[in-house]
Amino acid sequence: MPSAFRPDAFAGKTVFVAGASSGINLGIAHGFARAGARLALISRTAERIQAAADTITAAGGTAIGMAADVRDYAAVEAALVRAQDELGPIDVVISGAAGNFLAPVVGMSANAFKTVVDIDLLGTFNVFRASFDHLNKPGASLIAITAPQAVNAMMFQAHACAAKAGINMLIKCLAMEWGPAGVRVNGISPGPIADTEGMARLAPTPEMEARYKARLALRDYGTKDDIADAAMYLSSDNARYVTGTILDCDGGSKLGDASADALKKPQ
Ligand code: HXC
Ligand code: NAP
Repeated sequence: MPSAFRPDAFAGKTVFVAGASSGINLGIAHGFARAGARLALISRTAERIQAAADTITAAGGTAIGMAADVRDYAAVEAALVRAQDELGPIDVVISGAAGNFLAPVVGMSANAFKTVVDIDLLGTFNVFRASFDHLNKPGASLIAITAPQAVNAMMFQAHACAAKAGINMLIKCLAMEWGPAGVRVNGISPGPIADTEGMARLAPTPEMEARYKARLALRDYGTKDDIADAAMYLSSDNARYVTGTILDCDGGSKLGDASADALKKPQ
């Protein structure tokens, strides 16, 4: 489906995306690039992030890829400095780096729990905190990628649920502190998105995928373009009065079980 955003909707804007070598975040980067923005991308791996940037330039866009681990504040700061030097002050920041695996708490070391919290929550703090001095203010838009699991507990996801819940509150605190500077801070909570590493880990078999879809009100996975459009809406002038919000783009995921079984009346 074609995006509602025109090819010049973000012309002249600089967009910084953390965790952009694959999946939803790379999809968001492509959406902004198609709408005319210049992209600065980071992830841990130089080869993967350069390959991601190359997919944007091959499609006619402008993108630089930089290796930076979001757990390393100095590395994030250095990437932001280079992004501003080469592409100009930053209009939009997307914080979407994440790590995840299915594990019960008793199958998880303290370091396993800490690893996910460090990438997701501390990483989002680092990306947003380091970006503040490089933003095109007033008017900048910061977006963290959270998940329905921030508010709906899920088995074998204690680390990711806790980290995403922390992100939701960080979004609200920063929206209050940075609103007076003209910086809006919001989140997007994607439901299950097709062709992503996240769903490959959470629903690795066709049977699990079918069960996931059957429980959703809209009965299907979303697409990376759905999330890109949500990010562009939140970063557009149409959302100029929207801050501190978590936009659910999740097919009804957060509502709970909408399967036919759930609707059966007790006999
Ligand atoms: C138990 C595990 C484990 C597993 C790793 N660990 N995998 N414990 N079960 N399946 C433990 C390790 O043993 C180690 O603890 C600690 O975690 C750190 O592991 P490392 O491999 O050293 O970490 P690192 O190299 O930093 O890699 C991070 C990672 C990895 C999260 C473990 O999977 C990764 O790089 N993921 C990035 C891609 C990804 O996950 N994408 C999906 C995002 S989707 P010890 O004690 O042995 O040292 C997503 C879905 C959202 O977030 C919906 C839900 C919120
Ligand atoms: P993905 O493709 O694995 O994306 C995760 C990205 O984070 C990768 O580009 C990875 O790149 C990067 N990354 C991991 N650790 C990093 C670190 N320490 N520093 C910098 N970058 C790091 O997974 P995805 O499924 O598309 O998920 C993207 C986002 O959407 C995540 O925030 C996830 O929680 C959220 N989400 C996904 C779903 C879904 O259905 N998939 C649903 C809800 C929420 P490198 O390996 O190159 O570092």
